Formats: sequence, C-alpha cells, structure tokens
Amino acid sequence: MKKVILDVDTGIDDALAIAYAVGSPEIELLGITTTYGMVTVDLSSRNTLKILEHLQSAIPVFKGSDKPLVRTRQYSGKFHGHDGLGEAVKTPPERRAESQHAVDFIIEQIRQYEKDLTLITTGPLTNLAHALIKEPDIIHKIGQVVSMGGAVATPGNATKFAEANIIIDPHAANIVFKSELPIILVGLDVTRKTLLKSSELDNWRSQGTELSLLLAEATQFYMNAYKENYPYLDGCALHDPLAVGVVTHPEIVKTVPMYIDVDLDEDSLGRTIEDVLRTSTSSTSPNTHVCFEVDSTQFVEHFLNRVC
Ligand code: BDR
Ligand code: CA
Repeated sequence: MKKVILDVDTGIDDALAIAYAVGSPEIELLGITTTYGMVTVDLSSRNTLKILEHLQSAIPVFKGSDKPLVRTRQYSGKFHGHDGLGEAVKTPPERRAESQHAVDFIIEQIRQYEKDLTLITTGPLTNLAHALIKEPDIIHKIGQVVSMGGAVATPGNATKFAEANIIIDPHAANIVFKSELPIILVGLDVTRKTLLKSSELDNWRSQGTELSLLLAEATQFYMNAYKENYPYLDGCALHDPLAVGVVTHPEIVKTVPMYIDVDLDEDSLGRTIEDVLRTSTSSTSPNTHVCFEVDSTQFVEHFLNRVC
C-alpha cells in the first residue's frame, strides 16, 4: 500500500479523484490538503469534507494556501460552478478541517515517511512550493510527486499555451519544477484522452446513494460545460482521477523523461515546455517524467469500478 497525500482544489474532477483514491486499496491516504484554485480554499475545503462525509471517511483534511505566490487569483465558475461542485451541495459538512496548516502537514509527513511518501496534486502547486521554500531539504526526501497539470505536446486549456493548474500559480510551478523533485507529470497530453461518457451518469443516478447522486449532479454540470466548450468531445475529461490512477496502476501510462521548464514570460505564461537546450537548468538529469500515452479504456473501467 502506498502512503499518499492528495493535494486538491475541489473542483468536480477533484471530487471524483477523492472518491477514486478513497476507494482504492492500493493507497493509504494519510490526509487531504486543500488549496484555492477553481474556487476559494474555504470552498475547496468544504467540498472535500462533504465528499468525504458521503464516503463515510474520516481521513483528515488540512486547509492550505488561499492565493498564488505572485499573481492575483480570479474565479470563473465556468467548468465547476461558483461553489466548485456545480451547486450540487445543499448542506454544509458536519466535520471541520484540522487546525494544522496544509503546508506543515506536507512537511511533517515527508519527514516521517520520506521515500515511502507520494504526493498527488490536482490543483495549483502553491502548497508544495510553500513547503519547499519553508524547508528546502525535503526535496531530497520525498518519494514521488504525481501532478495533474501542464500540457507539453498539446495546446493548453486556460490559454493556448497553458493548462489551468499551472497558469493559476506559474511561479509556484516554476519553483517546483526547478527544485528537481521526482515528478510524474499527468498533463493534458493524456488526461484529454480519458473521457467519461454521459451514459455513465445514468448508472450513478440509478444507484441512488447520497454519494452517487451528488457526483452525478456535479459531473452533469461539468459535462454540460464540456459540451459547450468542446462540442467535438464525447464526454468530459477525467483529469484529476488520472493522477490517482497513475499511482494505483503505473502501467496504464507511458512516460518520457524530460527537462521541463515553466514559462514565466507574459505572452506564454504557464506553458510547460521541454527545455531541449537546457538553458533553465544546470542539472544533468531530466526533472520530470511526462505521461504521453495512456490506456484510457483500462483506466476508465478501473475508475468506474472504484468510484461509486
Ligand atoms: C485541471 O483544472 C481543473 O479544472 C481541474 O480540476 C483539473 O485539476 C485541468 O486543467
Ligand atoms: Ca483540480
């Protein structure tokens, strides 16, 4: 069983990733850390606690960063709704987040479990960047970072170059990629290939549990936004769940080692680009394993078996 921290900005597909991780016996979830991203950190924490409540899970939740390192955060509500879960949550969660800050929890757990610890991130990299700034020696201690973010050989989804999680806090991403942490990048190159079809939501509805109804309602919102923005796709992308799938079943993706740099130039801000000439690093080994191929049939089947 892999010891895992999940760092989220819950978000509809983050909610699916949480349900998937909690339902996966390959993972021992030590805690969930939250950040702002698609919504404020208060809302992403609320959403996380609510999903865990429906999963009847007591996994502790640690509230984290509420803004990017440098940029100003704006929230759109376009894909996830103004509350992050497509207005599907009707009552507040019974449980609260722990008093320890997410950044301190991440540092503490890296110190305790070192190479046995995997951090999965499904939001902007602000919490991790703060942890690296606060206690830089943890860089050489952590086992693995698996990060949903970036677009290396495919266009962005927030701008023509940049993926949303990276451009929300490009300075944090820049710190993380320059740090030489062991990163597996689960970007749009693969997550765009993992589509959930709308017919699956009927199965969730017919199960009729609080969890399946909440996930179906929220995911319907996400699918409607997909239909409007990407009419040529048959379903919605399982971005964040794929990062969990890469940890439970690493064989579902093929990765390529690369030197990845995060662009901070204004006109291509947040682009995750291969630094072929290695002008951004003095390192002699690639800093990232980028996922380029995924067995999407196997992944989606696996996800559906575990999530509801
Ligand atoms: C990422 O941005 C958010 O919309 C999703 O939750 C995912 O983490 C995809 O670009
Ligand atoms: Ca997310």
